[in-house]
Amino acid sequence: MFITLEGPEGSGKTTQVALLVRDLRERGYAVFHTREPGGTSIGDQIRDVLHDLKNEQMHPHTEILLYAASRAQLVNEEIRPRLAVGEVVICDRYADSTLAYQGYGHGLDLGILRQILTFATGGLQPDLTLYLDITVEEGLRRRHAAAEDGAEWNRMDALSLDFHRRVREGYLRLIAEAPSRWVTIDASAPRDVIQAEIRTAILARLTTSDPLSR
Ligand code: TMP
Repeated sequence: MFITLEGPEGSGKTTQVALLVRDLRERGYAVFHTREPGGTSIGDQIRDVLHDLKNEQMHPHTEILLYAASRAQLVNEEIRPRLAVGEVVICDRYADSTLAYQGYGHGLDLGILRQILTFATGGLQPDLTLYLDITVEEGLRRRHAAAEDGAEWNRMDALSLDFHRRVREGYLRLIAEAPSRWVTIDASAPRDVIQAEIRTAILARLTTSDPLSR
């Protein structure tokens, strides 16, 4: 089973995914946990270029191709082989981030983006996508606070408030287009409540899917 997590900046995905992975492993599932951009040696190098604050002149077309390049490597080097042996793959961001950030955020043509995504992934789609929803103001407030405590503050964080509003709006449209793949979770709730909702959503699907993944 291929599960992805999505959300605007400051939605708390990364904390939640770490708790989730630990819990699933304790339950006996073989879980492969990865993230985008990055997740491979080549992808991590691409991540550095994408997020470096000094690359503020990066053209949106360059940006999409770099995210797609990182994803192509991750899908072929890790995700497909892990799914083939029955592991549960959990990826912190995937193709929907490209549609939300580069498509809705930067206004790139969604049809062209979808073609690039299909080329990069060979058409691999998540079975389930968890969307951690937070208002843009609250999300960016959290990101600022975390950055003051030493967390990464990257080139994408530094884009305008309007950009991040379009990203969130984009996610809501993507969900409306294919609601059966998505589960929306209120990321302003307490951490334990969010985690419980995530586990409920995933376990319900894992128990009805391939028992070999256990
Ligand atoms: P994160 O590690 O906080 O999730 O940061 C990843 C950043 O990269 C975040 O700002 C979203 C952005 N991003 C895109 O713009 N497009 C993409 O395709 C992906 C995977 C991430």
